[in-house]
Amino acid sequence: MEGEEIMKPDYKNWMPKGMVYAFLGGAAGCGVLALVAGLLLSGGTFRSVLTICLAALAVVFLGMTIWGVLMRRAFSYDGRRQMSKGIIEGVAEHVKLSAGARCLDVGCGSGALGIAVGKRNPRAEIVGIDRWGKEYASFSRELCEKNARAEGVVHITFRQGDATHLDFPDETFDAVVSNYVYHNIPGNRQQYLMETLRTLKKGGTFALHDIFSKMKYGDMEAFVKRLKEMGYEKVELIDTTDGMFMKRSEALWMGLSGSALLVGRK
Ligand SMILES: C[S@@+](CC[C@H](N)C(=O)[O-])C[C@H]1O[C@@H](n2cnc3c(N)ncnc32)[C@H](O)[C@@H]1O
Repeated sequence: MEGEEIMKPDYKNWMPKGMVYAFLGGAAGCGVLALVAGLLLSGGTFRSVLTICLAALAVVFLGMTIWGVLMRRAFSYDGRRQMSKGIIEGVAEHVKLSAGARCLDVGCGSGALGIAVGKRNPRAEIVGIDRWGKEYASFSRELCEKNARAEGVVHITFRQGDATHLDFPDETFDAVVSNYVYHNIPGNRQQYLMETLRTLKKGGTFALHDIFSKMKYGDMEAFVKRLKEMGYEKVELIDTTDGMFMKRSEALWMGLSGSALLVGRK
């Protein structure tokens, strides 16, 4: 309609543009230094070794730049693959909330998962928290709010927060969701999961997607067993790299091996 702003959500990209530019800068910088060393430094083994090392670094950075571009293409909401969209919808599918029920999205980024849960559960109340640091500079609270308006999701709020110490009392939410957040945070990641689950009400649902590799999380089978011993029900760690969200080969080249969805009820 004339004069009316046509809003389209913009969920940005999980591969930050700044990181791709940093790789490109590294490639260009090392390439130039290799040229300078090769052409301007006076002879000898040192010059040859330095030139070769700088040229090799330039090639590595160039490879990382190409990888970054391909990652952005796979994640893009506008591209052909649309992997991010598939993952978000796949996680949101696990949450069914009645009127007035509350759901927390930990590390909401650009709001995608919380908004997807909100669209599926229009009478529930969603809260998204994120620390919105400089590593994901394109994500912000304002962007989340803009995306929620564009999607017509009104029962959602966003606020600054830290996944490692959530600013909510025990058993606040009827559901907790998260996608690709905890692996970004150094430290004891099983403890971060427990911190999220602390805020979940008894009987509440959780759907937490992340890279649950042994290197990042330690023994997740033991963690699942521990939850069951604590009385959690229907706890499952579902491999999402077997075609559910991505192919195994994609997970491998994209550095997403170990991706899985931890679901269950408290
Ligand atoms: C790959 S993005 C995923 C964003 C969002 N969950 C999604 O699926 O679109 C990772 C997010 O984790 C957030 N994050 C990292 N460390 C965090 C922390 N300690 N507390 C809260 N959020 C954090 C980042 O700011 C970023 O938005």
